Amino acid sequence: MDDIFIYDRGIPVSRIAFGQDFGDIVKALDACAGGPLPVYVVADANVERFADEIIALTGGEDSGASCRSNIRFCGKYTLKATEEDKTMDSVLAMADWLLRQGADRNAFILAVGGGITTDMAGFAASVYKRGVRFAYVPTTLLSQVDAAIGGKTGVNFDSYKNMLGVIRQPEFTYICADVLKTLPHRDFLSGAAELVKSFIIEDGGNYAMAVEFLSGLEDADNRDAYMAGHMDVLLSLIHSAAAVKAGVVTRDQFETGERRKLNLGHTFAHAIEKNARLSGDDITHGEAVAIGMAMAAELAERTGIAAPGFAKSLKKDFSKAGLPSTCPYPVPQLVEAMGRDKKAENGIVHFVLPAAVGDVRICDMELSAAVRSL
Ligand code: GLY
Repeated sequence: MDDIFIYDRGIPVSRIAFGQDFGDIVKALDACAGGPLPVYVVADANVERFADEIIALTGGEDSGASCRSNIRFCGKYTLKATEEDKTMDSVLAMADWLLRQGADRNAFILAVGGGITTDMAGFAASVYKRGVRFAYVPTTLLSQVDAAIGGKTGVNFDSYKNMLGVIRQPEFTYICADVLKTLPHRDFLSGAAELVKSFIIEDGGNYAMAVEFLSGLEDADNRDAYMAGHMDVLLSLIHSAAAVKAGVVTRDQFETGERRKLNLGHTFAHAIEKNARLSGDDITHGEAVAIGMAMAAELAERTGIAAPGFAKSLKKDFSKAGLPSTCPYPVPQLVEAMGRDKKAENGIVHFVLPAAVGDVRICDMELSAAVRSL
């Protein structure tokens, strides 16, 4: 599968590589090494086994003596990758570890885990000694199609998600299909919402293919067998979603315009997640995004941006794909959180509304007017 690149003014700044397993990870790291590359692995404790697999491939603890490659494995740091632990304190703890390991400005951080891990490790790498090099091995579908691509890093602050952070590109993102085989189904579906989101933004025939693949998974008697038999379809969908994201980020890295489209469903989703946290409800990010996209479609229809019936047909697809579309909270309950969303400016929210599959628009709208429409 071809590599995908993110460009900054025509220069490739981040590479997205694909592999069935971790077989090519040493090649990806070696490509970053002009000379000895001191690699510090930061891993989600839940997927430490993947980190250990990668470390073993690099020559492991003895890599200093290895002449196979320039990679020098310098240590492994494990973290608790939860939204509650996605904090400045966790980043400081990581920086403290790097300092104690003697990591200098040549350090190369390799983050292994989902979006929380890559966001935090990317942030720590971006500020440690004013910035060291880093790369990601995302281990969830959600991070493979969204979080680990495009350079957004950061932590939660004051009960709002990703309030502190920077945009800085990983040197590479290595997407490995095998890790998805052990991903719990609910986590897989959470990523599937972001996958579907990519194709509502840019279709190219992939939206229908994604809905068909997910419907088959939803209906399968044996989901593991279905996944194993459809890995090529899944990898091709992930590749297409990564290409959509890389294209958008290349055109608008710092989110002054088009990149806002990637927030489709997210203004509602962040408010839903905030309400869920306050009420002690269990809603995954992807579930909130799916509900948020359905709400955005509803708003698009009521404001005449989408044709009548669009929201209903989207919700039907979501239901076939095993994705939720009904908001568990009354809309007025979401307003306060939406107004404080970091994407809101002076009561005006940049709503991302789908006019149709493959055609999303950024519509600046007063929050109160939007809420009245829903
Ligand atoms: N997750 C949206 C973005 O990366 O812009």
